Amino acid sequence: MAPFANNSNMNQDGKNVDGVQAEVTNPKFRVTVVGSGNWGSVAAKLIASNTLKQSVFHDEVRMWVFEEVLPTGDKLTDKINQINENIKYLPGIKLGKNVVADPNLENAVKEANMLVFVTPHQFMEGICKRLVGKIRPDAEAISLIKGMEVKKEGPCMISKLITEMLRINCCVLMGANIANEIALEKFSEATVGYRHSQEVAQRWATLFTTPYFLVSAVQDVEGVELCGTLKNVVAIAAGLVDGLEMGNNTKAAIMRIGLREMRAFSKLLFSSVKDSTFFESCGVADLITTCLGGRNRKVAEAFARSGGKRSFDELEAELLQGQKLQGVSTAREVYEVLGHRGWQGLFPLFTTVHEISVGKLPPSAIVEYSEHTPNFSLVEGSAQYY
Ligand SMILES: NC(=O)c1ccc[n+]([C@@H]2O[C@H](COP(=O)([O-])OP(=O)(O)OC[C@H]3O[C@@H](n4cnc5c(N)ncnc54)[C@H](O)[C@@H]3O)[C@@H](O)[C@H]2O)c1
Repeated sequence: MAPFANNSNMNQDGKNVDGVQAEVTNPKFRVTVVGSGNWGSVAAKLIASNTLKQSVFHDEVRMWVFEEVLPTGDKLTDKINQINENIKYLPGIKLGKNVVADPNLENAVKEANMLVFVTPHQFMEGICKRLVGKIRPDAEAISLIKGMEVKKEGPCMISKLITEMLRINCCVLMGANIANEIALEKFSEATVGYRHSQEVAQRWATLFTTPYFLVSAVQDVEGVELCGTLKNVVAIAAGLVDGLEMGNNTKAAIMRIGLREMRAFSKLLFSSVKDSTFFESCGVADLITTCLGGRNRKVAEAFARSGGKRSFDELEAELLQGQKLQGVSTAREVYEVLGHRGWQGLFPLFTTVHEISVGKLPPSAIVEYSEHTPNFSLVEGSAQYY
């Protein structure tokens, strides 16, 4: 019986009252969080509150920190361990005393059998290369990362990159989750996407769920991951609309067109993707929150206000203080996939976002659709997804 399937031997704090006996029969799960940015720090906080309460997990949560020297001369890792707070990426929030920051990647993962990956996606290939042969063979992974790698043979989702490079199963967790709001313990939801094992998915849900963070699971890794990835492109479009002061009707139209392109793109790439996934937190809810409040929206708004004269790189550095923008790089990656497959005519919003972000089109092009009506005859079977 899985340790998570039955809570009958838990006391009121959720601790397993069978104590040592339980530990002998059910070895505890050890968790490491790989990444310590804004969302990585909030993920560590959520997890750390649960590992203390649930005896199936070791109390300690390791968190790998990409080491940085702060303006005070302190190392970020030392500061986190001294004051239990990530003052650069999540100031003002205590992570939990059982979170241990570790600047050594290999050391941070070596004992863990639950690995939570949460870094900007562009760093993941390098991180995986460093981890080959360094992790426990029984480790399970979950990716909270939004984005994809585009390779010659086609797009590679981050969960697949982890599975292929590290030879471990990888679930995903996505949702309407602006990190700073969850850090303040405001109610929200998230979706775990899993491939085979419902038991493993349930274990991840147990690790993350709190009274203010409700996690459900669906058997659709690609659908969940593509929702989380593609909504950042739509958020750039929404930010452009805000910068152009086009109003709420236009923004709603952009969100609807974007959601339709998200679904069509996902289903053309993976026929297994389920329509129902788009109604989970990872789908329409994440799209809404990101288009209303996220960092991609914010930077795109500033880009449009500058008339496209200031670059996204410059605005990212100025407005995000070290945090990374994902939507522009994802738009480029999606554009590459559309180009390789001859699908550009089917995805006017995705195509236009990229062309605006590289200066090929002005920001106002985001609402000029007349010349870009999807041409279904280009791709057999595509019309059914619109
Ligand atoms: N912040 C959010 O609200 C939020 C919510 C849901 C999902 N996400 C996703 O979570 C992932 C991580 O985002 P985040 O918000 O935790 O990070 P972030 O953008 O706040 O911070 C960037 C992180 O990258 C690290 N970094 C910088 N250079 C690096 C390098 N060369 N190698 C490795 N790491 C390096 C920094 O130390 C920092 O920890 C992204 O895929 C993002 O889309 C973020």
